[in-house]
Amino acid sequence: MSDKLFPELSLSLDALRALQLERLKQSLAHAYAKQMPYRAKCQAAGVHPDDLKTLEDLRRFPFTAKSDLRDAYPFGMFAIPREKCVRVHASSGTTGRPTVVGYSAKDIETWAEVMARSMYVAGTRPGDIVHNAYGYGLFTGGLGAHYGGERLGCTVVPMSGGFSERQVQLIAEFGARVCLMTPSYMLAIADEFERQGIDPRKTALRIGIFGAEPWTEGMRAEIERRLGIDAVDIYGLSEVMGPGVACEFVETKDGPTIWEDHFYPEIVDPETGAPVADGEPGELVFTSLTKEAMPVIRYRTRDLTRLMKGSASAMRRMAKITGRSDDMLIVRGVNLFPSQVEEQILRDEALSGHYVIELTRTGALDDLLVRVEARVVLEGDAAGRSRAELARRLKGMCGLSAEIEIAAPGGVERSMGKARRVIDKRPKG
Ligand code: DLL
Repeated sequence: MSDKLFPELSLSLDALRALQLERLKQSLAHAYAKQMPYRAKCQAAGVHPDDLKTLEDLRRFPFTAKSDLRDAYPFGMFAIPREKCVRVHASSGTTGRPTVVGYSAKDIETWAEVMARSMYVAGTRPGDIVHNAYGYGLFTGGLGAHYGGERLGCTVVPMSGGFSERQVQLIAEFGARVCLMTPSYMLAIADEFERQGIDPRKTALRIGIFGAEPWTEGMRAEIERRLGIDAVDIYGLSEVMGPGVACEFVETKDGPTIWEDHFYPEIVDPETGAPVADGEPGELVFTSLTKEAMPVIRYRTRDLTRLMKGSASAMRRMAKITGRSDDMLIVRGVNLFPSQVEEQILRDEALSGHYVIELTRTGALDDLLVRVEARVVLEGDAAGRSRAELARRLKGMCGLSAEIEIAAPGGVERSMGKARRVIDKRPKG
């Protein structure tokens, strides 16, 4: 059925590899000819696009890093005249300069297409009402999902983030079948449904398409249980396009399928940059195959995952992202990702997915505090039991002793977009 709307989904592996090679040659040649910072890197490394004869040859080419985009701020990475860019997006730039990305009219088309494909495999159908609570603005989430939904033939409700009370009201009253937002915000919306006394199961809502931040299988189960919907993982990043670089199929929910006909993935060792084989964990790297305004060759995402064989399509899947290499916490010398803490929290039915990790230092020692909200007010020694159990599980998982604080429902700050999971109060340096 999907083949009619999206024939690329049924490409054979051979056809896919042939298409990738042809497009890769074009994309490399385009970047080399028009993207001066990348051309300079190639020249310094002594490689030329003509050196690429097979897909494997890509590993001979230099990486592109976020710092390359920052150094070229604002428009130095554009490979077409700025006047031909119909849109820019930018990262929030909490540290240093924002990174700017540009799109040609054809890029916007491609993006709408891969986003429509993503929403389709996630279970969205033409004619559905789609409630879009990703933020509209410089962030790619809002407009990316918006254009994808329109392309698929849906009725898009451009809600953006925030105003939780109104979100619930519109989901219920308009009859949205599909919603899109960050998974952490979906949990806040679940609370709001409860507060308003509306049972989400009695609304038309069936599917949630969640991404923009790491989330665990535990979080998926929690969202599905509380809202009675299918929770599907969508991945993307602005430097490569925006949302819709990869998405899960609702039937399999076995990791996002990467739209390899547009974005060629590799996994490398985050320390050395050496390629690692499919199935092995490492840092995800993308090369755009069809972008005009800002091609990226071997872009280092910092996202840690592994590549797996395709299941619903010949295109490969990525495992759920464990975290970003720059989000990894080092606590008393132990490497720790917030997602590992999330996994342990959600094993306890009494605890919710609203949590924050706080790091402080006494003398030379790091202190780890996990503040997590209870689902309901815990009576008697129930809170004490949950506290002790979580401390024990965390210790077993990573060897660290953590102080656990169980907050009452509503006691942990909500995010409207990407959740801030870590407050690091340790002195720098
Ligand atoms: O977050 C694009 C997006 C919007 C994706 C809406 C999905 C849904 P950026 O703001 O550039 O773009 O942030 C990209 O967010 O490198 C990952 O670290 C993280 N991320 C995005 N999707 C996922 C996901 C958008 N499904 C960065 N799982 C990426 C885990 C994700 N992390």
